[in-house]
Amino acid sequence: MSLIERPRRLRRTALIRDLVRETHLSADDLIQPFFVSQTANEPEAISSMPGQMRHTVASLVEAAQAAAQSGIKAIILFGIPHEKDPEGHSADDDKGIIQIALKALKAAKVPLVLITDVCLCEYTDHGHCGLLDGEEILNDESLDRLAATAVSHANAGADFVAPSDMMDGRIHAIREALDDEGFEQIGIISYAVKYASAFYGPFRDAAESAPAFGDRRSHQMDPANRREAHREAQLDVEEGADAILVKPALAYLDIIRELREEIELPLVAYSVSGEYAMIEAAAAQGWIDRQAVVLESLLSMKRAGVDLIMTYHATEVANWLR
Ligand code: PBG
Repeated sequence: MSLIERPRRLRRTALIRDLVRETHLSADDLIQPFFVSQTANEPEAISSMPGQMRHTVASLVEAAQAAAQSGIKAIILFGIPHEKDPEGHSADDDKGIIQIALKALKAAKVPLVLITDVCLCEYTDHGHCGLLDGEEILNDESLDRLAATAVSHANAGADFVAPSDMMDGRIHAIREALDDEGFEQIGIISYAVKYASAFYGPFRDAAESAPAFGDRRSHQMDPANRREAHREAQLDVEEGADAILVKPALAYLDIIRELREEIELPLVAYSVSGEYAMIEAAAAQGWIDRQAVVLESLLSMKRAGVDLIMTYHATEVANWLR
């Protein structure tokens, strides 16, 4: 008997490699984020996210149709309102940009699960995720605003709301408000484990939501913390979340791996704007093989244990996989 162990036997041909592959990426796993703007008269390119647009409602419907054609099942919407104020009133306005966009997608019968980001930072003139008292971001006072926004999205046709604000107790507050209004069937994808990350930079350009002063470290998580991720995820499960999201993705695969062991709900990774921008920038220089790097990155998130991935590459990847 040979003394050498031969793992290479399972790598010998492409057919064998296909046969024994442990992880698979599918269009079903991918969620496409879209920005929709109430001020744009035509789709606007986002310079820090080449290939991504601030859509008009009409161009959003077209892009969503193309996304559905590619085989993906879900999109998440981010709104850029025409008006911002200290309380973010355009967030829960029936004539707000997300509400209008949802109604247009429903009217066009686009066959997609519709998810909306729920946060105030895109709608407040100070760019913070909640109400302010001086420079303090108020927690409990912000919950009503977030809950009202979630209800208004449900009312306009959202299938899931995805709160990304990181206020304490918001999942409970949103669940209760949805139930009170008869939206027991509308789910919550909680950005439960959201780090205060520098990888969100391009998004804040795209959504015009950079904070006017300070940062988000009083509510988003410290990138140094691991145990805290378990606590945040457990709290949101207890408060009634239907799925748990980790964000960013690539720099936090250890967190995903750990949470997979304890969370039975669908686990979602958000491969954020900075991850997208880094790949696009290096690929534009010809320094990396763009398609291979995108696929390898997404595969690593699945291997770490997520069920679903929000990625700006979603539609394109789904077309590659066809
Ligand atoms: C809103 C929100 C942000 C992102 C998703 N929802 C920005 C932030 O928290 O500053 C970032 C997504 C990305 O970078 O792609 N709070």
